[in-house]
Amino acid sequence: MIRKLLKSVREYKTASIIVPVLMVVEAIMEIVIPFLMTAIVGELQRVAESTDSNVTVDMNTVILYGALMIVCAVGALIAGTVGAKLAAKASCGFAHNLREDMYNNLQTFSFANIDNYSTASLITRITTDVTNVQNAYQMAIRMLIRAPILFIASIIMTCFIEPLMALLFAGAAVVLGIVVFICMFKVVPYFRTMFKKYDALNAVVQEDLTAIRVVKSYVREDLEDSKMKKATGDVYTYSVKAERILTVMMPSVMLVMFIVNILVLTLGSNMTMGNIDGSVDPTQMQTLFQYSAQVLSGVMMVAMCLNFIALSRGSAERIVQVLDERTTLPKSKEQIKEVKDGSVDFDGVEFCYSQKADVAVLKDIDLHIKSGETIGIIGSTGSGKSSLVSLIPRLYDPTKGTVKVGGVDVRKYNLDALRNSVAMVLQKNVLFSGTVAENLRWGDENATDEQIREAAEQACADEFIQQLPGGYNYDLGQGGVNVSGGQKQRLCIARALLKHPKIIIFDDSTSAVDTKTDATIRSNLRKYAPETTKIIIAQRIASVQDADKIIVIDEGKIDGIGTHEELLESNEIYREIYQSQVKGGEE
Ligand SMILES: Nc1ncnc2c1ncn2[C@@H]1O[C@H](COP(=O)(O)OP(=O)(O)OP(=O)(O)O)[C@@H](O)[C@H]1O
Ligand SMILES: [Mg+2]
Repeated sequence: MIRKLLKSVREYKTASIIVPVLMVVEAIMEIVIPFLMTAIVGELQRVAESTDSNVTVDMNTVILYGALMIVCAVGALIAGTVGAKLAAKASCGFAHNLREDMYNNLQTFSFANIDNYSTASLITRITTDVTNVQNAYQMAIRMLIRAPILFIASIIMTCFIEPLMALLFAGAAVVLGIVVFICMFKVVPYFRTMFKKYDALNAVVQEDLTAIRVVKSYVREDLEDSKMKKATGDVYTYSVKAERILTVMMPSVMLVMFIVNILVLTLGSNMTMGNIDGSVDPTQMQTLFQYSAQVLSGVMMVAMCLNFIALSRGSAERIVQVLDERTTLPKSKEQIKEVKDGSVDFDGVEFCYSQKADVAVLKDIDLHIKSGETIGIIGSTGSGKSSLVSLIPRLYDPTKGTVKVGGVDVRKYNLDALRNSVAMVLQKNVLFSGTVAENLRWGDENATDEQIREAAEQACADEFIQQLPGGYNYDLGQGGVNVSGGQKQRLCIARALLKHPKIIIFDDSTSAVDTKTDATIRSNLRKYAPETTKIIIAQRIASVQDADKIIVIDEGKIDGIGTHEELLESNEIYREIYQSQVKGGEE
């Protein structure tokens, strides 16, 4: 898992290697400084204690050690600052690459892949989870080598002064290590739960904001409010629990530190007075305090570092899951780029949305559509109409059998080439924020203003667009909120027409358009795109009545194929739908 994540370090590899080196340099400098200090104080002490008045301070020694101290201090400062800067750069760059890699992989997801994740969870993975891993990474490259070196070197230096003190520090380090580790061990599960609660919070906010109009029209603000309260309340509860433990940690660290200092003082003074065997003299006391602080901070850093890494493990797993997800639409060897014509063939097709599902959504589909034909598809809701047509531009692959476009298995095409030839106006379609013209250019980014107007005219959209303030430059707002349902459908049709596809599929795309406009759009299609295969899914018989062939779908199977007249004669389901609609009309 770690290796997979580290692949995203890329151009920040050098920085990531230099940082630990600089941190080690900083640690060594910090260890040497107290040692030099002792040397200078020792020199002064020698003179002070001497009874001989001829003995004077050896200034050369003092200046040499002083100069070395300045060099070490400046060295530590430079190594520390540059190291911190590079660590920030490396970790931010790593996070940036990680997000980019996740996003790039997300773009390769098929519809089936997308079905596996909730939007909220994907957002948390790309934002919060990456931030967690970024923090852990920064901590690791800064501390994971520096802290143990600081710890070990301080112990060794202490050994030179007095082995007993080194033993004392080591004992204190073990105690502190256990305290910090227990605290972190208890905190980590709370943090982990907290991140899950963040996921839930994201989900509530996202759902509420995207469906805010429904919430308002059903007067469910209170319900949404209570959902939000619960979500934020959960995050609050777990943060407080975690913080409560963390508040114990710092005072415990200080306590251990003070106890160690008292012991150093007691032991040290007794050694100086000769009560205990030992080689500590008063000049070394200050140095010992500094080493004890370094030993303990080293231990604390290692313990915290390990725990933060453990904490980010959950996040790392969730990130790797996205990085590892492979599209369910594997690339073919052939990568055919040319779609010959708009013919469509289904041979023995069966289809399930997930491998686990035991009931197939589509069964035994054999269907042959000639290029340029107009096909109507009708059937009750949930019968499998959308599923059937989604196999043509390869939004999903069939579980069994083959789907051919232009006489070639859709799996052999280059996916972009196939989808550029098959325009599908989805049942749940969306527009993007931006102007009308910008939205229509999704169909063809190089389309001229004239071509855009032509497409809009064919989709019976030009008239209403002209009336919008600013016409084609009218801003649609997020998701196209500024236009009516029927207007949105017509914009989506115009966008699809601009692709000049070989096959065009309307999935219930004129349901919000009045019958007259619906008929005009169909006649325009016949007139301006005679060679394009037109597949029209509709609930209204009137929308499919004049098609070359009408397909009746029932419970995932083809119940009948024929013209309007043939089906009226031979197909019971079709007859029933027709009668209910005609009667409804008469009434
Ligand atoms: N993404 C999906 N994941 C799992 N099952 C799905 C998915 N989409 C649709 N289904 C199921 O597949 C079946 C057929 O759905 P489909 O959308 O093809 O029906 P439809 O004929 O287009 O209905 P409608 O007229 O309401 O649009 C339904 O039982 C539905 O629950
Ligand atoms: Mg549908």
